[in-house]
Amino acid sequence: MEELKTKNRREFLAHFSLLSATALLPISWKNVSQEIKTNNMANYTLAFDVYGTLINTSSVYTSLRKLVGDKSKLFVETWRNKQLEYSYRQGLMNRFEGFSTCTKYALDYTCDYCQVSLSLAQKTNLLNEYLVLPAFSDVKESLPKLKDANHRLFAFSNGEKTTVTNLLKNANILHFFEGVVSVEKTKVFKPSPIVYKHFNDVTNSEKENTWLISGNPFDVIGALSYGMNSAWVQRTKETIWDPWTYEPTVIINQLTELNSKLSHK
Ligand code: 2OP
Repeated sequence: MEELKTKNRREFLAHFSLLSATALLPISWKNVSQEIKTNNMANYTLAFDVYGTLINTSSVYTSLRKLVGDKSKLFVETWRNKQLEYSYRQGLMNRFEGFSTCTKYALDYTCDYCQVSLSLAQKTNLLNEYLVLPAFSDVKESLPKLKDANHRLFAFSNGEKTTVTNLLKNANILHFFEGVVSVEKTKVFKPSPIVYKHFNDVTNSEKENTWLISGNPFDVIGALSYGMNSAWVQRTKETIWDPWTYEPTVIINQLTELNSKLSHK
């Protein structure tokens, strides 16, 4: 008799646990699947490059026209290319003097290259212009929608953290971001994989679920090579993609296109 009771009890428990599990399954599974679906649909971690992506540096061009006349286009392009070249070279030399120092050295080089003589005051004014620049017009329209879609938004730059934070505050867009991540602490610049890993570490995010958003092909390719997704913001047809191994995950011309691209991924 005792044995029968034990057998029945075991069967009852087995039956009950199976029943309770299946009975709960549709409700809990629906919620869980809905939760996963919602999360999969919405919350990526977005790393926004700053100069040339969020911030429009062309106003420096206007000031330069007054100083160097018809050499201004060559001057701006040489200055930007040299600024980035010096950041790459510092990385390869295992040296790190800061992005603002690369910008300063590049300005001196560009004056010599373009055979333009600027006074210390004129150079200082130009460097100060880099500290207060406007945001592109599509930023204020696109970022709130990306936040509403439950994505996490960060600014991510070679620039020093205080410099970039003040730049975004002056451009009245700092409040859109959960945080500002600078490469400073890594002592190396983009496109080193170290900086993209640093971004994921400090934002507690996974590279597979992260998108680097940048107008700079070198930055997009660096992020793709590391394992992030990446949207190339091709703001003008003059910006050419590097004919290299990688293709952008998506190409957009304006940040306003990003939200729909992300929801279809
Ligand atoms: C940045 O903001 C250099 O545009 C690049 O990191």
